[in-house]
Amino acid sequence: MNNLLIDALHCRNKGRPPVWLMRQAGRYMPEYRAIRSKYSFTEMFHTPELIVEVTELPIRRFGFDAAILFSDILIIPEALDVGLRFEDKIGPVIEHPVRSIEDIKKLPTPLISEKLDFVAKGIRELKRRLKVPLLGFCGAPFTVASYMIEGGTSKDFKTTKQWMIRDKVSFELLLDKISKETCAYIDLQIANGVDALQIFDSWAWCLDNKHFREVSLKYIDRLVKHVNGRVPVIVFCRGSSVFAKMISEIKPAAISIDWNADLSQLRNELPSGVALQGNLDPDILYGDRFTVRKHVKDLLDSMKGDEGYIFNLGHGIHPDIPTESVQELVDTIKNC
Ligand code: CP3
Repeated sequence: MNNLLIDALHCRNKGRPPVWLMRQAGRYMPEYRAIRSKYSFTEMFHTPELIVEVTELPIRRFGFDAAILFSDILIIPEALDVGLRFEDKIGPVIEHPVRSIEDIKKLPTPLISEKLDFVAKGIRELKRRLKVPLLGFCGAPFTVASYMIEGGTSKDFKTTKQWMIRDKVSFELLLDKISKETCAYIDLQIANGVDALQIFDSWAWCLDNKHFREVSLKYIDRLVKHVNGRVPVIVFCRGSSVFAKMISEIKPAAISIDWNADLSQLRNELPSGVALQGNLDPDILYGDRFTVRKHVKDLLDSMKGDEGYIFNLGHGIHPDIPTESVQELVDTIKNC
């Protein structure tokens, strides 16, 4: 069993840093595209056999030190019957957006353990097969709420922020509802064997400092407290370069940093005992192999000897990244 990730999450890794990439099981891999040509994305993440197969693809091809469950953060809105579908070239679309107290009251209270049993099956099979730790994940309530309110991906989150600014009390009712269902989903993942969890707050960057604390961090804190040390938790947000100190107050095992910050400098500003993950600019992987190697080496050198460092990108890998770049990245870390 490869324990580099778990050791690093406990800030006691004496070996080389572990490496995995956000969105590592995705469209940049020809093997993924081959499966995807036969099934829709929705079919894929609903079918235990395909969850297992796709989760394992990047481990087999590149030798990452951790697997991340093949699924999506929007599984919670889907379980709340808001009519989720994924459209090619558009992304997620939610047919019945939530925009008022009345809409929140209409949301069902599903039995997550039954409704998402296909995920449990996938996790159990993966745990039988994998020789690296399995990361489970969920969306942070703020980011999940933004999809439910906007009805899909947004550039400016105007509808979400307008609601938040005009009537924070009812806005928080939605965050509360999402948090409750997410806690049940976290329980399902832990009960079936995930070794660690990552919480994704991809759109937290659109918030000012005060609102980040009040509508994002507060609910991430609820999830971290709910996990209560059963498995290590990594908190990722776009904006973590700025918000890292605040995030460290809720004591996750690790913070995943976007690519704006100088990671080694940030390390000095944070309490010891929190692991750091990140933070290569995903666009570096468009460079040739020498460029990729140089940037990976520079980042490794800057974090040398850090027992709580996990190599990753500052956000997910793009679908058009050449696989050669990913192999160069992994090889550079393994040979460091
Ligand atoms: O990291 C992994 O490889 C595990 C699987 C994973 C997916 N989505 C698979 C996926 C994870 C961890 C996610 C998280 C996720 N999903 C986030 C948070 C992380 C982030 O990147 O910010 C968000 C915001 C979503 C919502 C979502 N799902 C969007 C916006 C899209 C469309 C993106 C696009 O470029 O089309 C998805 C679809 C999605 N999720 C795909 C994959 C592999 C592509 C599906 C396809 O094959 O068409």
